[in-house]
Amino acid sequence: MPDLPRFPDGFCFGVATSSYQIEGAHDVDGRLPSIWDTFCRTPGKVVNMENGDVACDHYHRWREDIELMKKMNVGAYRFSVAWPRILPTGFESEPNAAGLDWYDRLVDALLEAGITPWATLYHWDLPQPLQDMGGWPDRRIVDHFVRFADIVSRRLGDRVGHWITHNEPWVVSMLGYMNGEHAPGHKDWGEALAAAHHVMLSHGRAVPVIRANSPGSQVGITLNLCPAYAASPSEADADASRHFDGFFNRWFLDPCYGRPYPADMVKDYQALGRVPAEGLPFLEAGDIEEMGVETDFLGINFYSRAILRSDKVDEADNAPRTIPDPTDDQKTDMGWEIAPDSLRRLLVRLDRDYPVKQIIITENGAAWATGPDDDGRVRDVRRRDYFHSHLSSCLDAIEEGAPLTGYFGWSFMDNFEWALGYGKRFGLIYVDYETQQRTLKDSALWYARVASDGVLHPSESV
Ligand code: FCB
Repeated sequence: MPDLPRFPDGFCFGVATSSYQIEGAHDVDGRLPSIWDTFCRTPGKVVNMENGDVACDHYHRWREDIELMKKMNVGAYRFSVAWPRILPTGFESEPNAAGLDWYDRLVDALLEAGITPWATLYHWDLPQPLQDMGGWPDRRIVDHFVRFADIVSRRLGDRVGHWITHNEPWVVSMLGYMNGEHAPGHKDWGEALAAAHHVMLSHGRAVPVIRANSPGSQVGITLNLCPAYAASPSEADADASRHFDGFFNRWFLDPCYGRPYPADMVKDYQALGRVPAEGLPFLEAGDIEEMGVETDFLGINFYSRAILRSDKVDEADNAPRTIPDPTDDQKTDMGWEIAPDSLRRLLVRLDRDYPVKQIIITENGAAWATGPDDDGRVRDVRRRDYFHSHLSSCLDAIEEGAPLTGYFGWSFMDNFEWALGYGKRFGLIYVDYETQQRTLKDSALWYARVASDGVLHPSESV
């Protein structure tokens, strides 16, 4: 039997979650509502009006959950810190001690379990009063975020050595303020582009603060990237693909690396009336330099690709346009096409086009609702295959020189999938929401083997 492919020594295998999606305990220990609590209570926004009030009750079950991480042999756990636990209204002069204590305990227990904590500062649960002030489109939010980053990194910085400022600025700005699919549910291009700018600026300003509080730590940001391809060799399709790439990827990547906003996109947005002809109203002198602060890694969340056709460019929906539409076995429950080779191409492209020092896949995974069979086992074959094919693409990219050093499966366990509620199950662990019982799916058992020896075991080997 030929040698199985193997990841480089030290490659980091982890799992990821976020606070609002798993913690529950929405009104415990001083936490106050975030924009997601409000959004979930607004009729018509979330499937079945579900919410994160209880979610996976991780706030109370975190010890048990760390035991499960140990069973999965993961070396790292990426979680996010709930802003409304730390500064419940956003405006307090002193942080909420109970909130900080909870993350403190979590971090200590992870370290004790030999699991490296990776903390994300913003994974979308903005304290509601900060939205009432104006939210991300308001430049004052930048100082608020930096203060939050300062408080958290001051407290945890001696033990947390990996920091992610933001999760998916594209989603925060475009789904939150442009198409209204996510909290706070606004539909305004001007707000969306200003929000994107302030997210990136707050990243740029938070990085030096985190570094000062957490000496020697690695600091980066996570972007969700979606490779774009033209549906045909026509010039019009090539242009549609350029535009989508600019809208989704380059608008965030370029400022991250100190480059001005892509000129072709500024022109497009002006032609479409999304920004005034005079220029970008939110951009001030020095912003580009600040946004381009040096980072230690680029985190990327990868789920699918987009294939663009000139007559079907619709930025008002979240689904990548894939033409022809993928058949059922080519897509996940999200409707997202399974496209592992696009991950390889993306990694190679990032290495070619940007001065990335290190890339970490901070999320990758698939939703399928597979539940337990009569014997209690969860045979989620498709998810196992999905992880296998994407990890295999990672190995190919590494071989081609991409500086990929880590991979986090999304998600550690089934959880609240935002506007789509609990029906979309991304977990490596199955959660019975009635009983809160957790069951390692077959994908988790397989991932545990890979994580234990760094060998890409065949997907059927559980
Ligand atoms: C990403 C989010 C994450 C999860 C996955 C499916 O956009 O970061 O919270 O919802 O998608």
